[in-house]
Amino acid sequence: METALIACHAEQMDDALWQARFPEVQVLIDSATLQARVRELGEQIARDYGADNPPLLVGVLKGSLVFLADLMRCMPIPISYDFVAISSYGMETRTSGVVRLLKDLDTSIAGRHVLVVEDILDTGLTLSYLLELLRTRNPASLKVCTLLRKPSRQKVAVPVDYCGFDIPDQFVVGYGLDYAERYRNLPFIGILAGIESEVK
Ligand code: IMP
Ligand code: MG
Repeated sequence: METALIACHAEQMDDALWQARFPEVQVLIDSATLQARVRELGEQIARDYGADNPPLLVGVLKGSLVFLADLMRCMPIPISYDFVAISSYGMETRTSGVVRLLKDLDTSIAGRHVLVVEDILDTGLTLSYLLELLRTRNPASLKVCTLLRKPSRQKVAVPVDYCGFDIPDQFVVGYGLDYAERYRNLPFIGILAGIESEVK
């Protein structure tokens, strides 16, 4: 394999380079700030659970993929992970309040410590539905880690144990978050100009 190729993959591209290619996105949380906070969260979670009681990380597809991947690599304990998929916005930016399970877990969670990993807590409808469902399966414990939270938009109270950043009521993309399936690969969190996330 070419050395240059390895170097290219090992180093993250500058936010500025991405910005030049996606001028409609304004940086809200740059990649260095994001990485530092994810590391803090990962280390804290690893300390809290310890190597003897490691959690099963349950990622909510598709938005949590990037966060989950980085988070677990900052947790030096024996981690397992699984995914659920839940319908929320689809191609829209409004939540309908109707939540549907599209993909269930592959593994049983009875008696296990479960940590749900979400990209963003907006109205809270998605997470409250998921937590209710998982609780019926008798996990040893059930906690929530979300990268982002929009406190002003919350409609349903959801207990959050770990939160990366509280952000203003604006539609954000990047680091796993999309608008119509785009922008998930941006290494930072950005605000997408002209998108309303208001739920009336
Ligand atoms: P909730 O049910 O309203 O809390 O919505 C949660 C889901 O909506 C998240 O898992 C995201 O997939 C999506 N979502 C909410 N706000 C945003 C945003 O600002 N950008 C991208 N997706 C969002
Ligand atoms: Mg989404």
